[in-house]
Amino acid sequence: MAPAAIQTETVTVPVQLPSAIRLNPKGTGQYKELAPNKFDPETELGKKEYPPAKYPNYLPTWNPEQKYPPLEPFEHYEHGKDADTTYPDLLPEGVATVTHLTPTIGTEVKGIQLSSLSDAGKDQLARFVAERKVVAFRNQDFADLPIDKALEFGGYFGRHHIHPTSGSPEGHPEIHLVHRGAGDNGADKYFENRTSSVAWHSDVSYELQPPGTTFLYILDQPDTGGDTLFADAVEAYNRLSPAFRERLHGLRATHSAIEQANASVNRGGIKRREPVVNEHPIVRTHPATGQKAIYVNPQFTRDIVGLKKEESDAILKFLYDHLAYGADFQVRVKWEPGTVVVWDNRVTQHSALLDWKSGQRRHLARITPQAERPYETPYEG
Ligand code: SIN
Repeated sequence: MAPAAIQTETVTVPVQLPSAIRLNPKGTGQYKELAPNKFDPETELGKKEYPPAKYPNYLPTWNPEQKYPPLEPFEHYEHGKDADTTYPDLLPEGVATVTHLTPTIGTEVKGIQLSSLSDAGKDQLARFVAERKVVAFRNQDFADLPIDKALEFGGYFGRHHIHPTSGSPEGHPEIHLVHRGAGDNGADKYFENRTSSVAWHSDVSYELQPPGTTFLYILDQPDTGGDTLFADAVEAYNRLSPAFRERLHGLRATHSAIEQANASVNRGGIKRREPVVNEHPIVRTHPATGQKAIYVNPQFTRDIVGLKKEESDAILKFLYDHLAYGADFQVRVKWEPGTVVVWDNRVTQHSALLDWKSGQRRHLARITPQAERPYETPYEG
């Protein structure tokens, strides 16, 4: 595999923030920054004491010249609606091994290759993931595909999202990289000021059309640690009393990209697009299953439209705590080489964990197809 072109020059961007980029004074502003400390190309290529990255073609680059206009709305087609829910192409009998990890959220699948799925199989994948919320597919060849092929596969599920601030492989800004380099002592530094690295969110919920079926695959991992937590936002909704559910219907909340963009600029990172703030319903309906899910998260949601600050903060805090403490509607995914985790970003929240101290590299790639603009359907009791 050819080594990636690695950007070694210092990236310089203005630290003076434009006036449009300020914290919303009414908002709760809980954005937690878990960014790696540094990127050392020599270490990543194995020239120092650590082994080289297994997938150098996926090493991150940050190109300050990459500037994009605001995202345009587009028509999303939800393939999960077309699926045969007996899943004959995705989970053929006698071939696929399917293990549910909890009753409502999380399944492990072995025995099939995502990269060989027909379109019918992909439709079933979208639907199965919407039903099970998050599915870990083991022993996949996905990371070994040419990056273009992986993107072609992901593009079936929606328009590729280009992240406003994250590193991406050279020439492929549609891939969002999660990368903590070998020797990074991020955990030590982080815990000087924080008690926990848990940061629940659904990805880029600030976009007008946030992602739906989302793919994250492992490239390098610590021997232990760096698992990913997922919460079932449909079950979280169902656990609320009818009176409280009814009260949530009709409420809308703002979701902001501003704090994430500020954090990137402040550490000398990139900003590919100007940050946006969008409003979404607090309860959103899934277009294929019709299930309703709580759609607010502490990383990006700021306030409830039309409420006073104290009212908005109290309701949001309750919902964040409800999702975070609900270990009985959560699952913890352990990574193994060859794992591709697929989740439905509309009906889940997740958190990375920064809990290993071995200095080992953690490196993952995310393909993040955008979906429909969140909508709600009426309260049904
Ligand atoms: C993500 O937030 O999409 C990445 C989660 C992880 O690194 O485990």
